[in-house]
Amino acid sequence: MTFVIGADCVDVLDRACVEECPLDCIYIGDRMAYINPDECTDCGACEPACPVEAIYYEDDMPDGQEVFVAENRRFFDEPLPGRTEALGAPGGAFRFGKAGVDTPFVAAYQR
Ligand code: F3S
Ligand code: F3S
Repeated sequence: MTFVIGADCVDVLDRACVEECPLDCIYIGDRMAYINPDECTDCGACEPACPVEAIYYEDDMPDGQEVFVAENRRFFDEPLPGRTEALGAPGGAFRFGKAGVDTPFVAAYQR
């Protein structure tokens, strides 16, 4: 189980959550941020920091947003558009920098 960023982050990308994560495991795509499920330890510090309340515990995703559980994982487990290898667990979002790309679902997501 992990915390997951949902639809309300898309095109907002406030990044207040990034400052709160003690493990630096919230990565920046293009339209939204993604929590690395293999690096997150469920401390929950990020959840209250988001001004649009886009972060949920995996089991508490609002109706219709369950797909973002898979998309947060897909961002790390499958090669992103334009890349040949999956990101995996880069070991720190600050050092990794901005991915600048989203999963295909998020890239095409209509708010
Ligand atoms: Fe970080 Fe939030 Fe997980 S603060 S460790 S991404 S619950
Ligand atoms: Fe997104 Fe909220 Fe973080 S808008 S980048 S989940 S603070």
